[in-house]
Amino acid sequence: MSKGIKIGHRRSVLVAGLAILSASFGACDRREEPVAAFVTGGDPELGRAAISRYGCGSCHIIPGIQGANGLVGPPLSGIANRVYIAGVLTNTPENLMRWIQDPPSVDPLTAMPNTGVTEADARNLASFLYTLQ
Ligand code: HEC
Repeated sequence: MSKGIKIGHRRSVLVAGLAILSASFGACDRREEPVAAFVTGGDPELGRAAISRYGCGSCHIIPGIQGANGLVGPPLSGIANRVYIAGVLTNTPENLMRWIQDPPSVDPLTAMPNTGVTEADARNLASFLYTLQ
């Protein structure tokens, strides 16, 4: 008798736990949605060209860019939906441009160098990266 009560209790704790888990996943989805919709004011096609000019593909796998198969940094696929940039900045257009222009000023220990990206190119690069869902 008392055994039955214990099992029932455990089951309800499990159900409550699952409910909390699924509720927090739901909240997470909602928070990520606006990230993908951010507008930078740049030109994605100019950004695509800038990727090749600055050699981003020597360190990153970048979908849709020929020869962009570097393994030094993380693949940039799905960057539009990422919550953080390099694990240190929240993923906003301003922060993405800041990162692209001068990563070591954000995180002195990062392996991504300052490649001398201009402000206009950072805007175009960010607008291209936000097409990578
Ligand atoms: C010498 C190699 C190298 C080059 C060149 C390089 N990166 Fe990176 N990049 C990295 C590394 C390493 C990281 C991971 C940084 C970290 O987590 O501290 C990174 C991180 C990033 C991130 C964040 C990724 C994430 O998952 O959060 C973005 C965006 C990015 N790079 C864009 C670019 C762009 C755009 C260019 C070209 C202008 C570029 N990178 C050139 C090495 C490089």
